[in-house]
Amino acid sequence: MEGALQMLATRLSTARRVVVLTGAGVSAESGLRTFRGATKEDLPPDMRTLWAEFDPATLATPEAFAADPEKVTRWYDWRRIGCLAAEPNPGHLALAEMERKIVARGGEFSLFTQNVDRLHQRAGSTRVFELHGSIIDWRCTETGRKFTPPEERMPHYPAKSPFHPGGLLRPDVVWFGEQLPEDVLLEAMTRSRSCDVFISVGTSAVVYPAAGFVSLASAEGAFTAEVNLEATANSRAVDAAIAGRSGDLLPRVVRAAFGRDS
Ligand code: OAD
Repeated sequence: MEGALQMLATRLSTARRVVVLTGAGVSAESGLRTFRGATKEDLPPDMRTLWAEFDPATLATPEAFAADPEKVTRWYDWRRIGCLAAEPNPGHLALAEMERKIVARGGEFSLFTQNVDRLHQRAGSTRVFELHGSIIDWRCTETGRKFTPPEERMPHYPAKSPFHPGGLLRPDVVWFGEQLPEDVLLEAMTRSRSCDVFISVGTSAVVYPAAGFVSLASAEGAFTAEVNLEATANSRAVDAAIAGRSGDLLPRVVRAAFGRDS
């Protein structure tokens, strides 16, 4: 693994265009539960991965919201409060540092995230594209207008829209069965195809289209790497598969690529 980490660092040290794709694993060390991954069945349900305790079909689809808006709103508000209470970890901070180093020498850096928690932005990353929206913002079901609820639990479930008498608030996330924001998807595909280095961090690589970006990068000759706690469907296809926690590994990658003071 040391070899793979060093290989990635060497490529990064001269790269002109870098694309990073992140998933729930990068926020695991901030205390936020991932959706999937090795889960010990003997753990209490509230310590397992989210989709091992909850059924996405009854929580993360437009049909689930239409059928039971109270339940869906309550669950997303519980997660929103958890995201607001969490702090960025060394993995988020290392990606913000990576951006600064690459931009400072005239390079291009883009961070595409499937995460809805805003921890990358809070860590200082500025070139963040949210593929699955954000749980911190909500929107009116009738007008589409966005709203950032106060940093406390909502007083009622479901939450009434402040913009339309018949409207409800729903999280501004992309549910299963919904389209990703077209402009963000286009940016992701274009930048994946034209980068020199593509790094996938903390994602199980099972949810498309994000899981396919690494193949677009690799088909155009980019150096591809994965930093993940366990092997994924992409591990064998990337040039460097680095197994472990992103909060440990990303600061080491950044130090090895850009120097000790990083
Ligand atoms: P997943 O929960 O599917 O995958 C998280 C990955 O991170 C797993 O492979 C874990 O092994 C790994 N992991 C856990 N802790 C880690 C750590 N400290 N460092 C590095 N890796 C770690 O999350 P995503 O791939 O982001 O969508 O999931 C994609 C989408 O599926 C989500 O956006 C969400 C979910 O259903 C919707 O809700 C629509």
